[in-house]
Amino acid sequence: MATQPTGTGVEAGLEGIRDGIAEGRFPARVFNDQEIFDIEQHRVFSKAWCFLAHESEIPNRGDYVTRYIANNNLIVARAESGEIHASLNMCRHRGNMMCKSEMGNASHFRCSYHGWVYKNSGELVGVPYMKEGYGGRIDKRDWGLVKVRTDTYAGLLFGTLDPDAPPLDEYLGGFQFYLDLYLKQGSSGSEVHGPPDHWVTETDWKIAAENFSGDGYHTPVAHQFGFNLGYFASSGSTHGQGWAASIPGKGHGIGLGHTPGFPPFAGFPEELAEEMRHSLSPQQVEVFSQTRTAVGTVFPNLSFLMQPFSVIPGQTGVRFVTMRLYHPIGPGKTEMYSWCLVPKDASEEYKREAYRAYTLAFAQAGTFEQDDLENWARVTRSAGSTMARNIEFPYVMGMESPRDPDFPGPGHVVTPYVNDSNFRNLWSRWSDYMTGRV
Ligand code: FES
Ligand SMILES: [Fe+2]
Repeated sequence: MATQPTGTGVEAGLEGIRDGIAEGRFPARVFNDQEIFDIEQHRVFSKAWCFLAHESEIPNRGDYVTRYIANNNLIVARAESGEIHASLNMCRHRGNMMCKSEMGNASHFRCSYHGWVYKNSGELVGVPYMKEGYGGRIDKRDWGLVKVRTDTYAGLLFGTLDPDAPPLDEYLGGFQFYLDLYLKQGSSGSEVHGPPDHWVTETDWKIAAENFSGDGYHTPVAHQFGFNLGYFASSGSTHGQGWAASIPGKGHGIGLGHTPGFPPFAGFPEELAEEMRHSLSPQQVEVFSQTRTAVGTVFPNLSFLMQPFSVIPGQTGVRFVTMRLYHPIGPGKTEMYSWCLVPKDASEEYKREAYRAYTLAFAQAGTFEQDDLENWARVTRSAGSTMARNIEFPYVMGMESPRDPDFPGPGHVVTPYVNDSNFRNLWSRWSDYMTGRV
């Protein structure tokens, strides 16, 4: 207990928290704490690669969405050249917010205060009373919108506020192998189906990030209706089967649930399964064909889930993918974004079915989503209580699990699926950032 933060402040306790993770302990307090939130804004979200948008959200020139990194609102726009730019949504004159919509199409943005005009790529092109007022003292080239460094992987656009951050490929560190299961479903890749569900919830981003990095443990309990009614191709007796894979030192993790006898690629149309056999490597095909559910988190706050869902008990139904972003807006408070991803090449009928399954299960009012949020909001409330400041949680499950030497995917892979291994890796990476090691 001596290693955890006390009422004297979190900062002094961060090294102790880091040591505790290696021993399978993590304090409750981090899941709802103002000081932790403030430090995260600077040390985690201002340094990591943070997800901004899927490229298919802005397919045409002029398309834009507004998103956040930490508390910075960014305009993510496809310029006339076709390139995507991420710029701080803040006029360089006196700081007014330039774009007030969450999405739209515009070649230029005109400030509603004094009228400076910027191209969607961020260049300043118009200044009222330029000659009479500034008399040559302003060079427009110096006063464009502040740019954010971006990079992409398989349609995912990330941004970082850290000019010294490693390239995105290095940051993902091999997790691409698992991301492809969601992003390369068919030879043309995946796309979003409609705009994201978007809402604010009384839960801490870390609870969601942890759950989606492979919490197979909660599923038979929190989502027991799905088991009991037969909507879900798993059972309490076999649910522990599968793998927990994580990328050591990077924080990314995925849980791969396996149901014995579940046919390979079940829930996908046959022609799509055939494409996947070619768009993925043989090792990925081997993993995919044994996977019922894949639920993973890219550090810090982007998650994916692929799962079969049927409204007819006992049937496999359709396999859908959700991608979600947990944007922290306060201690214990998160702005959630949730998308349905579909294979670009799939038929409209399959896309509709997948979207329907996604909506029933994991959209804002989805049954699985509600099961989770009900629990996460209570965890958050408890974690913010005064007594919780001196309480730790056990993260010792699977502490002794040996690495599976035969698994064809990269990273630290252990079995069974029900395991804390991914969470220890996730919080260990978080503590690297929080203690200034990154
Ligand atoms: S604040 Fe934008 S033009 Fe003045
Ligand atoms: Fe859940």
